[in-house]
Order: sequence, then structure tokens, then C-alpha cells
Amino acid sequence: MSNLSSESYTDAPVALGTADSSMATPTIQATGVEKWYDNNFHVLRGVDLTVNKGEVVVIMGPSGSGKSTFIRTFNALEPYQKGSIVIDGIELSHDLKNIEAIRREVGMVFQQFNLFPHLSVLQNVTLAPIWVRRWPKAQAEEVALQLLERVGILEQANKFPGQLSGGQQQRVAIAAPWRCSPRSCCLMNRPRPWIRRWCARCWM
Ligand SMILES: Nc1ncnc2c1ncn2[C@@H]1O[C@H](COP(=O)(O)OP(=O)(O)O)[C@@H](O)[C@H]1O
Ligand SMILES: [Mg+2]
Repeated sequence: MSNLSSESYTDAPVALGTADSSMATPTIQATGVEKWYDNNFHVLRGVDLTVNKGEVVVIMGPSGSGKSTFIRTFNALEPYQKGSIVIDGIELSHDLKNIEAIRREVGMVFQQFNLFPHLSVLQNVTLAPIWVRRWPKAQAEEVALQLLERVGILEQANKFPGQLSGGQQQRVAIAAPWRCSPRSCCLMNRPRPWIRRWCARCWM
């Protein structure tokens, strides 16, 4: 993956978004990001990306071009070797404090949903507010139930992920990153059409 804005690099992903340079505060500022996997595979080659507050940006590219790898670097799920990533003014360095601060602000909807199968829907959605934000259980549950209602699965709150359809699991996965608002940004790996429509409504 290289140079997101380059049109000459036909195999590389491109970023499409609601670019508006008048919005001055970048939420994500990636500059010259380079990453090699352990086997010396050079997967990210000097990637630059700026996402301003309120922008919705889509990263598109062929399978295997590095889209997932790139967005995983934003919350330190993948280390990178060169360049810099700054999220909401916090430099993503090896400093654990910075990493924890960024992870508190960056929500992520994984491609495979990543729900805990032994926890109910409600427990999945309240896990982070209770353990990361230290919210009281009652407050976390109140917010979680509101979110589940917004994504249309309130009546599934006490079921386990294995008892839900794929579409319902997606809805839990999208409720989860919003569970500890406010958030700087939300990364979505392959959002489905209904998620895109729902988010567009939320962000308008
Ligand atoms: N943990 C890993 N170790 C080595 N290579 C990996 C690893 N994860 C992904 N890759 C390789 O990195 C490339 C980019 O993968 P990925 O970021 O998942 O692509 P995309 O999301 O664009 O389909 C692929 O060639 C993939 O095989
Ligand atoms: Mg991918």
C-alpha cells in the first residue's frame, strides 16, 4: 500500500472522503507510514492520510493491498516502523500511556465482529465502559440499551452472539464502539450498506 492519494499507483488503495480543508483540526494525521511484517514483507510504503474532524473517509483498494493493516495501525493493533501517526493531537508512539489514551478514543468495528461469545449482547456492549471508562454498571447499561434501540436490536439484549443472525451481530458490533462516547473517530473494516446508511444519519 502506498501513497493513498496517488492516481499513478493503480494497485494501491485510494482514500475517498468528504474532504474539507476548511476544517483545520485533523483527527487522524498519518505521514509517511511504513510497515514490514515479520517476514520482511513491505506492506505499507510511505502512506499519508489526513482525516479532519467530521469527515467520513473510505479507503478502497484491491484485496491484500494493506487496507486492514493500515487502519489497525491507528490504535496500535499493528506496529509500524517508520513515519508518524497522530490521533487527535496524541502521537502514537511506544509510550503505553499514549497508546491507552488513543485506544480510549478510537472505536473499531472489526470485519469479523469480534464479539465475546460467552457474554450476552448487553454484556458485550457494556464491557468497555465498565472496565475502561470505569462507568457504574447501571449507567453503562442505560447507555447500552439506548444504543441497542438505535440499531434496532433492543429485544436481543439478553441473547448471546451465537443466538443472533449475522446482521444482528453486525448491529451489536457497531453499537459497541459508540458505547463510551465521546470518541475521536471510529474505524470500520468493511462496513455493510446498512451500517453506512446508519452512520450517515448519525453524523449528519
Ligand atoms: N500477520 C501478518 N503477517 C504477514 N503478512 C500479513 C499479515 N497480515 C496480513 N499480511 C499480508 O499483508 C498484506 C495486506 O493484508 P491486509 O492489510 O489484510 O489487506 P487488505 O485489508 O487490503 O485486504 C497481504 O498480502 C497479507 O497477506
Ligand atoms: Mg481487509
